[in-house]
Amino acid sequence: MISIIYAHPLKDSLNASILKAVGEKFNNKGLEYSVLDLYQDGFDPVFKPEEQTGYFTGEGTHDPLVKKYQESLAASSQLVFIFPIWWNEQPAIVKGFIERVCLPGFGFKYTEQGVAPLLTNIKEVTVLTTSGAPDHALKNYCGNIIENQFINNIIRPITGLNTAKWMNLGLASSSPEQIKEHIASVSDLFEIER
Ligand SMILES: Cc1cc2nc3c(=O)[nH]c(=O)nc-3n(C[C@H](O)[C@H](O)[C@H](O)COP(=O)(O)O)c2cc1C
Repeated sequence: MISIIYAHPLKDSLNASILKAVGEKFNNKGLEYSVLDLYQDGFDPVFKPEEQTGYFTGEGTHDPLVKKYQESLAASSQLVFIFPIWWNEQPAIVKGFIERVCLPGFGFKYTEQGVAPLLTNIKEVTVLTTSGAPDHALKNYCGNIIENQFINNIIRPITGLNTAKWMNLGLASSSPEQIKEHIASVSDLFEIER
């Protein structure tokens, strides 16, 4: 099973086109997947007082949507994140997804040696983003936050994976033709048999 964590509020966005292309690829290949459409589902990224109270005692969550998302992650061997770059990183709703869904006792556990991943069922993570700025600007002048923070300090501690694929489309440096090509090459990432 593959979970696609998708975050964009508009149905006619570039990110929606990327989601569509990836979904079509999975359909063609007969791969089972589920889309966790954070905006469409009305996911609330705000961490609740009772979630903070129960965080370190491992009480978990009472939110049915969070539980549904947890079930999807627990049943997946692969994750695909699709979102635009906002303020050089993931939109706040994606950070809220991590905070509220990847709780201690589900996403990771505390050990004497530090944090240990619990989502070790996830064998592959792909992050597909779009930005206004060119790709190299994100990497060289804006902190390279997806790699340095999202992949290395969020994805790695919950999955134990040392690498994740990240593909960004920088709009400022792309012609309409290149945008089309990017969407096609993004779905080609999933061409190999799984
Ligand atoms: C709130 C907000 C913040 C943004 N911040 C950035 C940014 O820091 N760097 C950047 O390159 N583009 C930024 N953008 C531009 C978006 O990344 C770009 O419009 C989007 O990737 C285009 O894809 P879409 O049509 O799916 O929205 C921002 C856009 C919004 C709405």
